[in-house]
This record gives sequence, C-alpha cells and structure tokens, in this order.
Amino acid sequence: MKLGVCWYPEQWPQSIWASDVRRMVELGLTFVRIGEFAWSRLEPEPGQFDWGWMDRVLDLCASAGLNVVMGTPTATPPKWLVDAHPGILARGRNGQVRHFGSRRHYCFSSDTYLGQACRITEAVARRYGRHGAITTWQTDNEYGCHDTVVSTSDAARAGFRIWLAARFGSIEALNTAWGLSFWAQEYRHWDEIDPPYGTVTESHPAHRLDWQRYSSDMVARFNQAQVDILREHAPGCDILHNYMGLFTEFDHHKVGEPMDIAAWDSYPIGFLGQGPFSPEEKRRYLRLGHPDLAAFHHDLYRGVGRGRWWVIEQQPGPVNWAAWNPAPAAGAVRLWSLEAFAHGAERLSYFRWRQAPTGQEAMHAGLLRPDDQPAPGFAEAATVIGELGALGPPPETERAPTALIFDYDSIWGLQAQPQGRDYDGLAQAMRWYGAARQLGLDVDIVPPGADLAGYKLVLMPASLFVDDGLAARLAASGAHILAGPRTGAKTQAFAIPADLPPGALQSLIAIKVARVESLSPGIVLPAGNLGSVIGWMEDIDTSASTEVLDSLYDGRPLWIAQSRCHYLAGVPDVALLGHVIADIAARAGLATENLPAHVRTRRRGGLRFVFNYGDTDVTIDRPLRLGVSPIPPGGVAAFDDLGDQPWPH
Ligand code: GAL
Repeated sequence: MKLGVCWYPEQWPQSIWASDVRRMVELGLTFVRIGEFAWSRLEPEPGQFDWGWMDRVLDLCASAGLNVVMGTPTATPPKWLVDAHPGILARGRNGQVRHFGSRRHYCFSSDTYLGQACRITEAVARRYGRHGAITTWQTDNEYGCHDTVVSTSDAARAGFRIWLAARFGSIEALNTAWGLSFWAQEYRHWDEIDPPYGTVTESHPAHRLDWQRYSSDMVARFNQAQVDILREHAPGCDILHNYMGLFTEFDHHKVGEPMDIAAWDSYPIGFLGQGPFSPEEKRRYLRLGHPDLAAFHHDLYRGVGRGRWWVIEQQPGPVNWAAWNPAPAAGAVRLWSLEAFAHGAERLSYFRWRQAPTGQEAMHAGLLRPDDQPAPGFAEAATVIGELGALGPPPETERAPTALIFDYDSIWGLQAQPQGRDYDGLAQAMRWYGAARQLGLDVDIVPPGADLAGYKLVLMPASLFVDDGLAARLAASGAHILAGPRTGAKTQAFAIPADLPPGALQSLIAIKVARVESLSPGIVLPAGNLGSVIGWMEDIDTSASTEVLDSLYDGRPLWIAQSRCHYLAGVPDVALLGHVIADIAARAGLATENLPAHVRTRRRGGLRFVFNYGDTDVTIDRPLRLGVSPIPPGGVAAFDDLGDQPWPH
C-alpha cells in the first residue's frame, strides 16, 4: 500500500513548496493529491488560465519522484462563474438558493453548470493529461457532501419531468404505477409534477423514491461527463472519485461503474457521532471510532471499485466538522492505516499535509501543525511506512467467503416508507456486518447485481427490492442465504407485491408476510433464550416446504428455513443475530469464533490482522509478523494465519 497526502500548494507561499515536497519524500510518502479546489487559481478570470504555478508544482513533484493524483476542480466554481450564471446554484428542499461562500454550490441538474464543469475539466486534462507525474485523476470532490445531491432548482424540476417521461412513457402509466387515484393525486401532464416537498402531510412515497432515483442519476450523469473527457485527454490514467462515509444519497455502484477505482474519505472519529451507535458505544469508542465503522466502508468501497479501492483522505488528528471533535487516541492513525491495508487498500493518503491557519478548516489537524512542526499523526504515518516496508510486497486480497448485499435503492425505499420511524437500511446493514465480523468472518459488501457464485454465505439485511434475476442468482450461487425482514417487500414501482412479500424470494422460501408491526425503541420481544426482536416483527404464513427454527415468545415463527434459504421475520438484537449467523455459517461450512466485542480481525493473503479497539490488552499466542503481544489498546498485530483460533485472551 502506497502512502500519500492531500496537499493544497495554492494555499501556501511558493517559497515553501520545495521543502514541503522534500519533507514528504523524506517521510516516505510516494504520492500527493492536489488540485480539487483550485479553480479560482487555475482560471482567475473567465477564459484566462494561469498554468504557471501548477506547472511548477508538477515539476517539483516529478523531480522528487512523487506521483500525483489530480483532482478536477468542479466542487468549487469561482465567484465570477456564479455571478455570470446564477442559475447554476442549487436550491435546498425549501426552495432557497444555496449561495456562494463555501463549496459544492452547484446543481447537478444544471446543463449550464455541466457545460462549465466539462470546460474546466477539458482545459485541465488537455494541459496535464499526459504529464508524467500524474497517473490518476479524481473527479470533483465528495459528491453529495453538505447535503448536495438533491436540488429543487428550475433545472432539477424540468429534468425530473423529462426523466419521468422517459421512465413511464405516458402520464397514465405514471398515474397507475404510483397509484395516484389515492387521494386524487392524478396528473394530466408531465409539467404538473414538482419535487416532492412542501406538501401538507407526507408526500407520495413512490414520488419521493423516484425523485431520489432521479437525483442519483444526475450525479451519475455529471460524473460520466468528466470521465469521458478524462479518458480522451488523460489516456492510460486511472480515474476515481472520493466517496464519503455513512452516505447513501446516490447509487455509488452506478456512479462508480465507469471508473477504475473507488476511493473514500475515512474520518472514524468524525463519523462516530453521526453513526447508528448507542451512547455507550460512542463513549467507549470516542478516540478510535467504532470497530466496524471504517472496516464496513473499506469492504463497501472495495465492492464499488470492483476490487480496486483506496482511502484517499485519512483522518490524521481532530477534525473540524463534527458537533464535537475529540483527539484520536495515541496509535489511532496507525491502527486506521493498517486496517485499510488489511482490507486490501491499494493506497492511503492523509488529509492534509499542513493544518491551515485560516478558513473553514483552520481547526482541522494535518500531519504538520500550522507552524510547520510535526503533529502527532506525522510520527504514526512514519511508523506505518516502516511497518509496511518490513512486511514486504502486499499479498493478494482474496474474495471473502461471505457476501453482504448492499442496495442503495432499497435504502431509499425504506426511507420513503419506514413504517417504524427509526427503521434504517444502512444501520441494519452495519449491524449485520458487525455481527458477522465479531464471529471472525471476513465480508465482501456487494451490489444486488453482483455475481454471487462462489460465496458460501450471503447476508441480505435490507433488500427491499428482490427481482427475479437476484432470486435466480441467489439460487444458482449454492450459498446459504439469510434474508432479513422486509426482504422483497416492494416492487420496483413501490407497490406491495401481488403475491405478498417476500416477492420473488418466494421461489427460494415458500412463505408469505401476512402482517407487519413496528415497535418503538425500548420494546423488546423475547425469542426463546437466543435473544430478542426489536423494532419490527412480521406475521408469517409458512408452508409445507418450510421449517420453523425459532419462534417468538408468543409462538409467531421468527426464523424460518427452506433448504439453504433462511428468513428472519423480526429485527434481531445483537445476541439473536450472532446466534443465527453462526448457525447458518456452520451449515455453510464456515468456522466461526466469538471475538471479544472490541476486537476485529481481517485476513489478507496468508496474514491475519488483529485490531484492538478496546481499553485492555489482547494477547496473541502466535509468532507475530507485525506489532507486539499483548496488543495494547488501540494496537494492531498480524500473524501467519493457520486457520485456527488463538482466542480468547
Ligand atoms: C472531506 C473533504 C475534504 C475536507 C475534509 C475535512 O469531507 O473531502 O475536502 O473538507 O473532509 O475533514
């Protein structure tokens, strides 16, 4: 894994660039990411480009042997552009314009902005597409950051109508598909349809779902246009985008399709407060982040990148943007970096080189302090470079035996009609992922269209939509399957399937969901002595071909199986989920173990890495290839994986 850093030379005097580059190389960094916010410096006046400074930056990098990732600067259109074309600005859900003065102030639906974004992308790519120092391009920066996927601008309204017309063909077909005879919501013309906001009570769920699909498609369209330009003018370069954590507002699988690599920005402590964790977990993991938080995204984006993925921004110290911004534990930067390596990252770069003294992010740590002295993350980066060097060339990342299906469309569907206020598809996915990993299983997080052949276990925590194709691939995979409640509960048009849920999954397990109930936090329905159901329970009609493996205290079937396909009729608590996954894993021939709650492991090649997210030592009874035993709190170790279980200690 190569290590690098995000660098903003345009924010610093040219007199320090050479020493910056020298110090990066001395530290052992091999690449920099630059340029993604530099539009006003590259084109200070309309049509007048200033390439000189960027030429010098690239020449410095080239002569120092630093590889460059060049960002297209489209996340920050300059003031002159906004003033010339005020229609490019996005509008919020309340219709208010989102003004210049921060970043991401553009609307994905604006053809004018798309044209301007293509123009600057082409200019930069023509200038530098064949520059020897650059091997990778980043499109824009964090699509959707600051709640910017959705815009209610005139362009978005018009675009949505065109998108709907293409999808449904006729207004009658839309009226029928959405079911608009309900509450006399029928439309006569496409131009009667608005974004789904400002209604008296909730707007129509199918309307909201298709609006989200449209908004996501606009992100994909915007990205594709940049990719096309970069392919032409930067031939042979890899293209990536830097995605975010805990963010599901666009379909990352779709946006990622034309690119070579998926990169993501990992801020484990920044995300902790926003994640679906209990107050107790937030206290316990204050300085390291939750043990499944970064790992979940590593495995998710490995799937988005079809195996090729990076961490392109790694938290190096306290950030500025969370409600509160604690300092990481000593060793946290090392742990996060090595965890990315264990999950198969090709590269990792720290955000940022030096803390800026001014601006919105002046309180955000860098590897260097504003006075140029090393911040604590600097020494940890040096340690990681040394340790990775000692490990030698990275072993191959194999496919994990377990797949977890992650479907953005289903997450939007659950948001459009949660039925229980806190029902959250992402949270369910993360909980199932955590349960599997606490059993020592490695997990691939895959899109619903993935080839499932070869997996032994497939987990479906939140697949609201199951079409015949997915059902067929599940059947053909030979895997053992665990489907959660609400699987196959809606058609693509957002109706309840005519033959009831779980819809197409009934070809694998002959059950029908006859009735559902949602339960407020704190309500617990006991299920024998295996655990409990929380938040959601379904009444299931079973059949002669199914077997009930566990029931609720009141006799309702909870865990139902038919051959290799298992269905859970309620949202399980941690104990029940762990028990069920362990049982099905055993049926699938996968060995599991009960790791301590704060310990996670990951295999890469012949190595097994152990991460200690707890506050007590973890002893490993093996000769170590990395780290020490006992592993201190916040520590990492790796040993040759013999397939046995050196726990618990
Ligand atoms: C990311 C973003 C960076 C910077 C960073 C601060 O979300 O891509 O530009 O703002 O956060 O943590």
